[in-house]
Amino acid sequence: MRNTLVIGNWKMNKTLEEAVELVVRLKEKATDFPPSAEVVLAPPALYLASIAMLEEPWHKLAAQNCSHHDYGAFTGEISAPMLKSMAVDYCIIGHSERRTYFHETDALLAAKVDACLRNGIQPVFCCGEQLKQRKEREHFVTVLNQLQQGLFHLTPAQLSDVVIAYEPVWAIGTGQTASPEEANEMHTFIRQQLSAHFGEVAANDLRILYGGSVSAGNAASLLACSDIDGALVGGASLHVRDFAAIIGAAS
Ligand code: PGA
Repeated sequence: MRNTLVIGNWKMNKTLEEAVELVVRLKEKATDFPPSAEVVLAPPALYLASIAMLEEPWHKLAAQNCSHHDYGAFTGEISAPMLKSMAVDYCIIGHSERRTYFHETDALLAAKVDACLRNGIQPVFCCGEQLKQRKEREHFVTVLNQLQQGLFHLTPAQLSDVVIAYEPVWAIGTGQTASPEEANEMHTFIRQQLSAHFGEVAANDLRILYGGSVSAGNAASLLACSDIDGALVGGASLHVRDFAAIIGAAS
């Protein structure tokens, strides 16, 4: 049975004071969160320690990125062992903003997945097509290629520690979400491809999140789909009422 996972990706937003206030105000709503929902906050890395110190049992922590190296002379980087030492459980890998603005390649992302797994961090591996690719009916082959390059070198046992987030690039931050049918069609495709490569058991256990303009208004219809196991939420996770409503829809 796959429990529903809701991750709030704050991206590069909030001062420390605002970040702590958001956590404190979410805590006030946490008693209403469905017990079956797993809630994860992905604040800017700079705030992970402060938020970890609040020791809130209703959420876990994710990083938004990590180095593919474990340690060394890599100025400005943060490694998976460092994240692990701060009680971080998940790390978002291959978000389209990192692929686009920071030119992260498929090979680099595969190495980052490996860095997470060898340090006991669950990678949240993002995939998704551009609008042009969907219009040209290339969205399935695009996503399959991202999965092949980023994950297909793993063993089925390693895959069990991976979460996938399908995030169509045209839906991220645009207010234009994929319909539940469009999203679920892709999620089913992803699971079928993983099943063919890793086996049915591994594929059935894996959680596939949807991301891209998830809101309080559309979360319930997306999360009701058979192959959608949660949400990677950007903009709406910055607002207490919206994020709490999305978590509430995860029952
Ligand atoms: P959004 O972002 O919810 O603001 O569209 C999602 C994401 O980038 O993970």
